[in-house]
This record gives sequence, C-alpha cells and structure tokens, in this order.
Amino acid sequence: MDAAPLHAPAVPTPTAPDTLIRARKLSKTYRMGTPAQLKAGGGQTVHALRDVSLDIARGDFVAIMGASGSGKSTLMNILGCLDLPTQGRYWLAGEEVENLSPDALASIRNRRIGFVFQQFNLLPRTSALENVELPLVYAGVATPERRARARSALQRVGLGERGDHTPAELSGGQQQRVAIARALVNQPQLILADEPTGALDTATSEDIMQLLSDLNAQGMTVVIVTHENDIADWARRKLVFRDGQIVQDQRQPGRSTQAVGAQGARAVPGMALGAAYTP
Ligand SMILES: Nc1ncnc2c1ncn2[C@@H]1O[C@H](COP(=O)(O)OP(=O)(O)O)[C@@H](O)[C@H]1O
Ligand SMILES: [Mg+2]
Repeated sequence: MDAAPLHAPAVPTPTAPDTLIRARKLSKTYRMGTPAQLKAGGGQTVHALRDVSLDIARGDFVAIMGASGSGKSTLMNILGCLDLPTQGRYWLAGEEVENLSPDALASIRNRRIGFVFQQFNLLPRTSALENVELPLVYAGVATPERRARARSALQRVGLGERGDHTPAELSGGQQQRVAIARALVNQPQLILADEPTGALDTATSEDIMQLLSDLNAQGMTVVIVTHENDIADWARRKLVFRDGQIVQDQRQPGRSTQAVGAQGARAVPGMALGAAYTP
C-alpha cells in the first residue's frame, strides 16, 4: 500500500489541470423534415458539427469565427452545457458532461459558466440590479447577499450608478454591460459570449471587447463567437469554422495575459485599463 511501484503506468487523466475545456470528436446532427417525412425515416440530416476536437486552457481568450451556419452556436451550446452532442465526449474542468444528471448540468451552467448573448436577453421592466441578481435567485442566495453581489458585479462593469435603471433606460452598450455583470455574478470559470457585439456600433463594440479583455487579464477564460476580424483580433487564439469543422486554429501574436493591458498599438484612444468603465 505504502510504496507506489516505480514504473507504474501513468494513469491517463482526461484533463490536465490547466485545461478547462476538452472536447473529443464532437458531432451534432439534426434531422430536418416534415413530421410525416421524419416518421417514415425520410427528411434530411444536417451535420452542424463534424468530429470537432478542441482543448481550451484556463485563462485563454478564444474567438470563434466562420460563416453563418458553420456550427459556431452549436458548439457554444454544447460547451455551455445547454445541449448535448450527438456523438463525442466533452469534459468541463475535468468533469465529463455526458455522465451528469440534468440537475448537475443545470448546476454547472449556473455556477461555472456565464453566458452573454447578442441581444443581451435582459428582462424588460426589471432593474439592472434585479437582472444581475437573477442567477443568484436561481442559486438560492439570500436577498442581502444577492444585492451586495449584484452591486459589486455592476461596479465591475462600470455601471455602479445605474442599478435602478431598466434596460429601456440604458444604451445598447450599457445593456450588454448589465448582461456581462449578470454573467459574472456567480463567479464563473468561463464566459461564453455568442456575438456579444453583433448588435452594437463599432465604438461600443470596442468598449465591450475592452471589458472582456480586462476580465480575461484578471484570469477569466473567455470564448466569443464573432464574424468580425476586428473583434476576433482582441482574442489570443482564433478558431475558424467551416461546415461544422475547425479549419484554422491560430495563436495571435503579441497576445498574452501580460500584453492585454498594453494594447497601445491597437487600443481605443483615451482608453486606459481600469479607467474604461466610467459610465
Ligand atoms: N435546432 C436546430 N434544428 C435544425 N438545424 C439546426 C438547429 N440549430 C442549428 N441547425 C443547423 O446547424 C447548422 C449550424 O448552425 P449554427 O451552429 O447555428 O451555425 P452558426 O452559429 O455558425 O451560424 C446550420 O445548418 C443550422 O441550420
Ligand atoms: Mg450562431
């Protein structure tokens, strides 16, 4: 019992400690057709993902690009535990997602992952603060702590003074900040953002990318989908999808955690790290 054999075969650990996402041969197919066609075994099969294998390290900042219909959102939904692959295996922080019960999956989604969407997906007629509190309501956190954590998340995105405003009283960029605060409030390990700047003008998009970049510099793993090169340039790694497969996987030069704060060459004028969020 006490002495391990010197030449014991290495136990294959599916996930190295610094790997947050490990996916092997993920495929996703959809059957399309009328109910009658499907019943008769007819219709069409759509291959949204084909044998996608991918590792994402903790602390990385990844942009996923590719034409519409190439499988980006399908992958994000699987990575976010919103959907399961038809085939293949996926480990999130060392846990194999397929083996988890629906409750465990919901809990992983709520605790480990923060989602950001193109259309913000905020509740209308509900204050920014209450929108940010929502994931904590689901997590059963008591009201005073909920308030405090939501306030601090809003401060983190530069909206400390806007907690009482409803989405309609905020600009698009501010609404996306609220959505990012909501994504952060459970202190997730991973932010998944599907076209987070798709509904924003160029200047506001840059603000949002600066915010995601700052969060990444603070250690957050960030994965975004975008079809704009200027947006993907903020990431440290760029993946390109075509027809459900990764056709390009590229490290972007000069992007490291340390370099994130020194974006002078490409930075938005007047935007210093930390001073970016004055509302
Ligand atoms: N729920 C679904 N039912 C049927 N087909 C789907 C569904 N979701 C996506 N698809 C198809 O899968 C392919 C990939 O879609 P998607 O992942 O949304 O692409 P992207 O986000 O890159 O635009 C497309 O052909 C799309 O029509
Ligand atoms: Mg999509």
